[in-house]
Amino acid sequence: MGDLHVRGQSGTRPPASDATADGDGRQLEAELEAGIRGKTAKIGVIGLGYVGLPLIRTFVAAGFRTLGFDVDPQKIGKLEAGQSYIEHIPARWIDQCVRDGTFTPTADMSRMAEADALLICVPTPLNKSRDPDLIYVESTARDIAANLRPGQLVVLESTTYPGTTRDVVLPILEKRGLVLGREFFLAYSPEREDPGNPDFTAGNIPKVVGASEPVSRELAVQLYRQGMPEVIPVNSYEIAEACKILENSYRAINIALVNELKMLFDRMGIDVWEVIEAAKSKPFGFQAFYPGPGLGGHCIPIDPFYLTWLARCHGMTTRFIELAGEINTQMPWYVVQRLTEALNGRGKPLHGSKVGVLGVAYKKDVDDARESPAFVLIELLRKGGAEVTYNDPHIPRLARSRHFCIPLESVSLTAEYLAGQDCILIATDHSAYDYEFIVRHAPLVVDTRNATKNVRLGREKICKA
Ligand SMILES: NC(=O)c1ccc[n+]([C@@H]2O[C@H](COP(=O)([O-])OP(=O)(O)OC[C@H]3O[C@@H](n4cnc5c(N)ncnc54)[C@H](O)[C@@H]3O)[C@@H](O)[C@H]2O)c1
Repeated sequence: MGDLHVRGQSGTRPPASDATADGDGRQLEAELEAGIRGKTAKIGVIGLGYVGLPLIRTFVAAGFRTLGFDVDPQKIGKLEAGQSYIEHIPARWIDQCVRDGTFTPTADMSRMAEADALLICVPTPLNKSRDPDLIYVESTARDIAANLRPGQLVVLESTTYPGTTRDVVLPILEKRGLVLGREFFLAYSPEREDPGNPDFTAGNIPKVVGASEPVSRELAVQLYRQGMPEVIPVNSYEIAEACKILENSYRAINIALVNELKMLFDRMGIDVWEVIEAAKSKPFGFQAFYPGPGLGGHCIPIDPFYLTWLARCHGMTTRFIELAGEINTQMPWYVVQRLTEALNGRGKPLHGSKVGVLGVAYKKDVDDARESPAFVLIELLRKGGAEVTYNDPHIPRLARSRHFCIPLESVSLTAEYLAGQDCILIATDHSAYDYEFIVRHAPLVVDTRNATKNVRLGREKICKA
């Protein structure tokens, strides 16, 4: 990881060492701009996951030819065979684009030189001590540097702490010997993809673009304008990087607030979901966030801690973020406590009870279980001696993750299965579930998402948690 010094924003064109070099630089800039405007530029996306693949789709839809890079040979093999590994990206779209040549997937990083713009969408996880792990960003930057040619635009899209583009990516690229702003161009543009949300895709979410010199910024803005409805240029890499962390910290903190209020209101006999519905009627100054069994996904539980780490390096603490993390992380324990009490109310101990967990994806209608609180819930229930099974229409089996190895497969959600459980725990409120059916057949339902709010019959069997 690079040093932490966040340098000032230059905001001016770099001086040309001589007139010829300056002229060459302007020509490279003009050629790339013409390629972008004329849609003859080739777009390379590095990291073909939940962010990279939809981004390819956006640029193909905008009329560009694309190259997709991934280190995972299984993913490349599937894409080449016209198959999808992300539920909301249709296989028929992949098949068509791979056949007509608008999308070429490859694991051959030397082909990066073929692209005019390279957009980096690789993972940015935390390591064991919850510090930023930039191993994927760094190795991608090294691959790009090895193949960098004059006239290329590189944009980092992975979520990260302010300073990464300037202090980590730029020094690696500069080792190639090309000059920033004249021979190659670099920007940061945070990804705001919301998988599973039918209202927003990469093609209709406004895009923030930051660079610390104007040529790179203008080229990146031009590029994104071809495929995005609105592009918001900002004056440095750091502003764009911090913007993304602000968005995700805002979410994590507000979710923690409603999670804490849920626990308090439960004790007071007040339904937190009804409170939020009422508060939502205020037309200004309030945005609804909803409680749940804990945070999941690749962003909200992780990204704010990139800032926490950076704050520590600057001798400060991010108290709001830490507190939110503490509350959100505790939620599965609270849910299991509520479930245990609910069983107890029916004269049953958790030990030996059959608990069916519904939904292991980290949020509704997605096939992504990364960091899902369902794993903690299942582990806690098992530790308490419960016999746990699960159903998730989007996740047929639990893949081994960094923290968990739970060898379970999704069971069929039949009336017999529901009736055979001592308790059903709704961890994720997938739209595919028939909640009337679930409540009708289950003896007890612990609902962490207010998914059963419209169920009319059998409400005495529902315990909100
Ligand atoms: N998933 C989301 O909803 C979301 C939303 C906004 C931002 N983000 C951010 O976007 C970034 C990517 O997230 P994601 O969810 O798409 O991750 P992902 O795990 O779904 O996909 C990342 C892909 O990168 C590949 N990869 C890893 N190292 C590589 C390398 N050196 N070269 C080429 N490919 C490599 C992996 O094989 C994987 O296919 C992260 O920084 C994340 O925080 C994610």
